[in-house]
Amino acid sequence: MNFLEIKGLCRNFGGLRAVCDLNAHIEAGRITAMIGPNGAGKTTAFNLVTGLLPVSTGKIFFQGKDITGLPPHKIAFLGVARTFQNIRIFSNMSVLENVMVGVHTRSCKGMFSSALRLPGVSSEEKFIRDEAFKYLEWMELAHLASMDAGNLPFGQQRILEIARALAAKPKLILLDEPAAGLNSQETNKLSKLIRNILESGVTVFLVEHDMELVMNISHDIIVLNNGFLITRGTPSEVQRNKDVITAYLGEEH
Ligand SMILES: Nc1ncnc2c1ncn2[C@@H]1O[C@H](COP(=O)(O)OP(=O)(O)OP(=O)(O)O)[C@@H](O)[C@H]1O
Ligand SMILES: [Mg+2]
Repeated sequence: MNFLEIKGLCRNFGGLRAVCDLNAHIEAGRITAMIGPNGAGKTTAFNLVTGLLPVSTGKIFFQGKDITGLPPHKIAFLGVARTFQNIRIFSNMSVLENVMVGVHTRSCKGMFSSALRLPGVSSEEKFIRDEAFKYLEWMELAHLASMDAGNLPFGQQRILEIARALAAKPKLILLDEPAAGLNSQETNKLSKLIRNILESGVTVFLVEHDMELVMNISHDIIVLNNGFLITRGTPSEVQRNKDVITAYLGEEH
């Protein structure tokens, strides 16, 4: 059984085939990157896996369970968290409150009060706050906890979104272009953070255009072009693949 399995996945937008007959899998305990030129279908594939978009055809299995067609919150409960290419944080809420939203995703299951025998809402609230703070400490954002999230510098907003996703205690995290807009120092920190996330026991599925980052941290790479899978392999296999070079550089090269 594969950790995440995508079978014959298609998504059409009118006449446009954004994802076509995609077969792919993700193994637990590894960093898998999905790369491809602009418009290749990467974000669409993430939207299908997380239930944000209905599939046209095909199936998605997470830990052997068919999650095709489940609403996003159910997929999140099963242990799949994500970040977005265009950052989605709550700008008017504090940095801490943003992460509390992530922790709350867990509490919606009702497991806190029952498992921990908490007497009331206020204790649960305190638990959520303390939990959220731990993620801010991990991401080195704790000193900014009370700041409005919208006032954070861009790079730290990206990290905050990752913190919120992790606060849901996922088994799998999907990161859609986490390095976009980051400077090289921030990107270096991000690559360490992604390795660190993996070491903490969370499997990573990454979409990214920064090839240095991808080649440095990925175990497996899936390459899409025009909605189709063109190859899958290790970083060195993918770098040598003629179809990949053609997809990125065009036919004339
Ligand atoms: N909601 C939508 N409605 C119509 N077309 C869409 C929609 N979302 C994506 N598309 C189209 O589907 C194709 C794949 O888009 P997608 O955003 O998945 O690409 P991508 O690989 O993530 O690209 P990028 O690297 O630029 O983020 C593109 O042609 C895009 O214009
Ligand atoms: Mg995209």
